[in-house]
Amino acid sequence: MDKTILITGANHGLGLSLTKTFLDNGFTVFAGAYKLNGDSQINAIKTAENLYIVDMDISDMDTVKQAACFIRDITPSLDIIINNAGIMSYDENNNIMKSIFEELDFESINEIINVNAVGALRVVNVFAPLLKNGSDRLVVNISSEAGSISDCERNGWFGYCMSKAALNMAGALIHNELKKYGGQVFQIHPGYMQTYMNGAKNESATYTPDFSAENICKLILNRQRYKSSKAVFMDLFGNKIDW
Ligand SMILES: NC(=O)c1ccc[n+]([C@@H]2O[C@H](COP(=O)([O-])OP(=O)(O)OC[C@H]3O[C@@H](n4cnc5c(N)ncnc54)[C@H](OP(=O)(O)O)[C@@H]3O)[C@@H](O)[C@H]2O)c1
Repeated sequence: MDKTILITGANHGLGLSLTKTFLDNGFTVFAGAYKLNGDSQINAIKTAENLYIVDMDISDMDTVKQAACFIRDITPSLDIIINNAGIMSYDENNNIMKSIFEELDFESINEIINVNAVGALRVVNVFAPLLKNGSDRLVVNISSEAGSISDCERNGWFGYCMSKAALNMAGALIHNELKKYGGQVFQIHPGYMQTYMNGAKNESATYTPDFSAENICKLILNRQRYKSSKAVFMDLFGNKIDW
């Protein structure tokens, strides 16, 4: 089998673009998709060779374990995991801009952290045995500049910023174990993208998800260049970001 990669949140947005890019680069792709239905954008490529679409809600351990069983029946190893799935707000009434002087929605904050940070950890934990059997042992967490504590200038976005800072720490801890086996972790800020984080396509954002995916793919294919004793936090062009 070709190189194998698991990409979460591949229904649309960056996850779908990453899926297409890695298929084009000869990978076998396991595309984790959530709330799959007839309207899912990934349906447009569902018959692609070397693509396996796997139902997976990263906030739910049972579906992650079921996805692992499905993949284990096809391959004993995964070379790369990309934790891409993420949410910015839990429901449309949640105003993520709220400052500390306003009443915050803690149910929403918990849910965002459960998906963006704990969800990614859940995925790596369940798939760790397959990753250990792979040749690269690379975990890529799609983080955000919003998770940088040292560069923080916002006074709101509590759930999202806290979730990405926690994801960064999860990545640093995972890296310290994986490096014993020749593996590594990248935390990548994909840029401001024309995706669906606000519920509808953000046409005014800087980059198309295809552009970000191509750049992230280049970083991954050139991963040896970014090899480091610590986890690396960088943007889509490989520029380091302060933690
Ligand atoms: N867009 C930006 O400007 C930007 C900037 C910095 C970082 N990022 C990060 O980039 C990553 C990709 O986001 P995007 O911009 O492509 O947004 P998007 O278009 O909203 O895509 C997010 C994907 O994650 C999926 N997802 C949500 N909850 C999930 C769950 N519980 N389990 C599994 N999948 C789930 C979504 O599925 P459904 O839609 O079906 O729920 C969707 O496929 C995220 O981690 C985000 O934080 C984005």
